[in-house]
Amino acid sequence: MRKVVLVTGASSGIGLALCKRLLAEDNELYLCLACRNTGKAEAVRATLLACYPSAEVTTVQVDISNLKSVFEAAKELKQRFQRLDYVYLNAGIMPNPQLNIKAFFSGLFSRKAIHMFSTAEGLLTQQDRVTADGLQEVFATNIFGHFILIRELEPLLCHSYNPSQLIWTSSRNARKSNFSLEDIQHRKGQEPYSSSKYATDLLNVALNKHFNQQGLYSSVICPGTVLTNLTYGILPPFLWTLLMPVIWLLRFFANSFTLTPYNGTEALIWLFHQKPESLNPLIKYLSATTGFGSNYVTVEKMDIDEDTAERFYQNLLELEKRVRVNTTQKSDHQS
Ligand SMILES: NC(=O)c1ccc[n+]([C@@H]2O[C@H](COP(=O)([O-])OP(=O)(O)OC[C@H]3O[C@@H](n4cnc5c(N)ncnc54)[C@H](OP(=O)(O)O)[C@@H]3O)[C@@H](O)[C@H]2O)c1
Repeated sequence: MRKVVLVTGASSGIGLALCKRLLAEDNELYLCLACRNTGKAEAVRATLLACYPSAEVTTVQVDISNLKSVFEAAKELKQRFQRLDYVYLNAGIMPNPQLNIKAFFSGLFSRKAIHMFSTAEGLLTQQDRVTADGLQEVFATNIFGHFILIRELEPLLCHSYNPSQLIWTSSRNARKSNFSLEDIQHRKGQEPYSSSKYATDLLNVALNKHFNQQGLYSSVICPGTVLTNLTYGILPPFLWTLLMPVIWLLRFFANSFTLTPYNGTEALIWLFHQKPESLNPLIKYLSATTGFGSNYVTVEKMDIDEDTAERFYQNLLELEKRVRVNTTQKSDHQS
């Protein structure tokens, strides 16, 4: 039977490279591209089918930051599929990133320079926005919309006799110090991206606790630093090109400069082949590249305590209840 794989954010960067690599691994896959832009999704579908004509590739329209769109996409998916074997929760944003020049120069000459460049810790701030649902956009896109999607898709995911896998694209930039249970959407801080990725890691731990017995497993990865639309928002392409000699040198000291979307998907592809029951939920899987350009997967123990993960999960369930009421009221009002 064909394996069914859903990928969010499949229209560019890491998501697009992932789709190509998945089909190279198994050209009989049923791949569903979950994208907000239908035109881009159809173009990707045509490209993939031209290379892998025996695959099934379809699209579903979803703006993951918009709850109505998430509910509609989930409804459509439930009509189209009996089960989903893998869901790659990959769509993500880092809006209006600003480089902290002071932190950059003080870090450059410190002992933490390699760590700082590998994780962007303390280097980046972002200006977040509020969505039509009244949520912080980074939180809504990077985590909450995905959370609602998988809650809605539970009937397709929870079959204890045949496990399904959730695979989140998190980041080495996920930092405990940027996350607070009192401000899960990071309304008050300046690093919503890091907060949302730490929240993803917490959710991953809680999902495993609540769903493993029902046959649903969750894992998180970091793709490394990859040149995509997201990183071109931090520095324009020509500056990345100018920095390339330094980055190639840094690669001999830090394995996180994967640079190409293909390399960045290494951990996502590795997880595709694993038995999810054998994975440790407290581990993050990292795509890594050597100084000579070879790819491999390495691991990092996450700085997470299970009590915080559980409390965060309960907060998400509370928020879910509220948004469900609001969304129902809005659609009653419109009809
Ligand atoms: N690049 C890196 O160095 C790096 C490092 C660590 C983690 N990551 C993570 O990797 C993931 C993929 O990012 P990328 O680097 O490949 O960047 P990218 O090229 O900008 O891709 C982001 C993808 O997410 C989609 N997306 C954004 N907002 C969406 C929304 N509201 N609804 C539906 N889809 C939406 C984009 O769709 P459109 O094409 O319509 O914009 C695009 O397909 C993200 O979760 C990011 O946080 C990236």
